[in-house]
Amino acid sequence: MDSSITPPENIILIGFMGCGKTTVARELHLRLGYPLVDMDHAIEKQTGKSITQIFAEEGEPVFRDMEASLLKSLMDPDAPHRIISTGGGVVGRAENRTMLRSLGYVVWLDAPASVIIEHTRKTRNRPLLLTDNPEERIAQLMEERRPLYQVTSHLRIDTSELDCHELATGILESARYFFSKRP
Ligand code: S3P
Repeated sequence: MDSSITPPENIILIGFMGCGKTTVARELHLRLGYPLVDMDHAIEKQTGKSITQIFAEEGEPVFRDMEASLLKSLMDPDAPHRIISTGGGVVGRAENRTMLRSLGYVVWLDAPASVIIEHTRKTRNRPLLLTDNPEERIAQLMEERRPLYQVTSHLRIDTSELDCHELATGILESARYFFSKRP
């Protein structure tokens, strides 16, 4: 890489469905003024379809390809300051994990399964949870994904005791420190 190019300083939120990524990303966007990219919304806008429709009509692998190509498009050296809110399954592919880390500061919003169950209980827009036993699905996916969130993130925060203002303050302070110390 050309050493004169400053590495990107995006703030990226990862974590399970219902952990609060969208709300915290909005708060960070308001505080910093950086453009906000909500990956699910961006994919819905690009395709003109809801995430549920994409899963039903084209299948999960096609959705995962869309996520990967959206991430690639965010590796834009001319737009290095964004708040990026990801979908909960983005860490599944190794190429995505590599891209996320090179995009900037990756924050894992973590929450216990009980909180996730409560937050996702009434939603119908998460195709992976449209099963007879969403609690079991959540437990299984969390077990698979926790190590992936762990290796992808620079910071893990337990969101269960904090509101979105407190979370945003913590993230901003630690992001500033991270970017100031980065070689
Ligand atoms: C998914 C999470 C969703 C969305 C899609 C798949 C997942 O995003 O990308 O339904 O695999 O966990 P949220 O994490 O914003 O709910």
